[in-house]
Amino acid sequence: GFDTPPSQCVGPEYRPATQKPTATVSKPLDQVPNIHILPQTPQLIALLTMIRAKETGRADFIFYSNRIIRLLVEEGLNHLPVVGHEITTPVGRTYAGVKFEGKICGVSIMRAGESMEQGLRDCCRSVRIGKILIQRDEETSQPKLFYDKLPEDIADRWVLLLDPMLATGGSALMAVEVLKSRGVPEEHILFLNLIASPEGAKRFAEQVPKVRVVTAFVDQGLDEKNYIVPGLGDFGDRFYTL
Ligand code: URA
Repeated sequence: GFDTPPSQCVGPEYRPATQKPTATVSKPLDQVPNIHILPQTPQLIALLTMIRAKETGRADFIFYSNRIIRLLVEEGLNHLPVVGHEITTPVGRTYAGVKFEGKICGVSIMRAGESMEQGLRDCCRSVRIGKILIQRDEETSQPKLFYDKLPEDIADRWVLLLDPMLATGGSALMAVEVLKSRGVPEEHILFLNLIASPEGAKRFAEQVPKVRVVTAFVDQGLDEKNYIVPGLGDFGDRFYTL
């Protein structure tokens, strides 16, 4: 839908609203279950402003995208289960902490999703990463699986599925079906995404309601060519070529 996007005063806590600029923030999508939108902080809005601008060149696009991807990975990891873990500190006291329980892996949807692999590696040392290539079939114009390479024990892992743009949801839904066909339960899949369209997010949540989506922003809608608007253009082109 192309309804008026929400706007909000953005700036540091200590400033009164009258001294903050008004910026467009993410739609809330309260009615869609299992979608987690990053807090619309001044930092996040400033980073998104950089990568959305058409003048931003490749080096800056990569740098600022990587900062947002890092926020998505850190938030995504908060959705994984932990168990109690008591340790002893160098001064001989105990500390009641937690540690992650279970194995994880990343799965990137090629090509744009590969841009998110480094952010995942930066947070999870020596993480296994698989890949899925989905492209539109020329004849049917439906998404089609062209290639996949996934860890053989993927059914025993939590899967962080990586794709920066959720437009119609076609590729992401097909990727989830591939993961399910390899024995990964829907509830063990976390989809990390930079910008989602409201229609894509709703369709995704309807079809795979147990997959959690962590996104930085739900945008206004899709244009006639299925680009997200206002969006940032073609993510893969801006990250890899232009
Ligand atoms: N993929 C992109 O890279 N950009 C869009 O706007 C939609 C899908």
